[in-house]
Amino acid sequence: MKRLIFAANWKMHLGPEAARGYMETFLARVPLLDDREAWFFPAAVALHAVAEAARGRGDLAVGAQNVHWEEKGAFTGEVSAPMILDAGATAALVGHSERRHVFGETDAETGRKVRSLLAHGLTPVLCVGEKLEQREAGVTLSVVGRHLGVLEDLDARALAKVVIAYEPVWAIGTGKTATPADAVEVHAFIRDFMGREGADPGQTRILYGGSVKPDNIADLVGESEIDGVLVGGASLDPVTWGTMVQTPLD
Ligand code: PGA
Repeated sequence: MKRLIFAANWKMHLGPEAARGYMETFLARVPLLDDREAWFFPAAVALHAVAEAARGRGDLAVGAQNVHWEEKGAFTGEVSAPMILDAGATAALVGHSERRHVFGETDAETGRKVRSLLAHGLTPVLCVGEKLEQREAGVTLSVVGRHLGVLEDLDARALAKVVIAYEPVWAIGTGKTATPADAVEVHAFIRDFMGREGADPGQTRILYGGSVKPDNIADLVGESEIDGVLVGGASLDPVTWGTMVQTPLD
């Protein structure tokens, strides 16, 4: 059975000390989860602290927010897949909209990052999604299709490892959430794409992200097309996040 993923993207918040305090509060409130997993994407400097705090809990996982595609070298300021593995990560976000639109990450770079993570046994969480003007122009599915295109020559084994996060750019940090119906339409398109590429579409895990909050999370994770959520702002408070990951499912 696929377990739902509740993923927290802390962005540029919470250094190692704050992350340790956060995890203490979270762990005190969230007993072992049996039908879902909670994944944490802290800043690179806090990866190790969070991985240590989560040690021994098979329902928790830790990932980086970004990686470079090379293993090592003269790339000042970058962090590689083997480095995050060493710090205790099992996953990394790739192609988050802030990487694409604030830092100019290209599809070609995103594709190289996905391959580097897979080569090191790490799970890429590939983020895809359209901007507002693209949704209004009716090109949402072609934008998402282009973002997914970086997966095109991967074999079924590699594809089975990839998690996709659909995050409409206009919904990130804006308080605007896609309706469950909007999300379901794009998720179904993504699942179809994965099936055509040779993945088992029923096993592909597709998360929704963009202004997921305590008051809309139940409707989103209640959709069978939605295999979990990727949450920024609302994941920064361990009490709120602890409640969100324990959202009852009907
Ligand atoms: P948000 O961020 O929940 O603050 O909208 C989501 C994300 O960027 O992953």
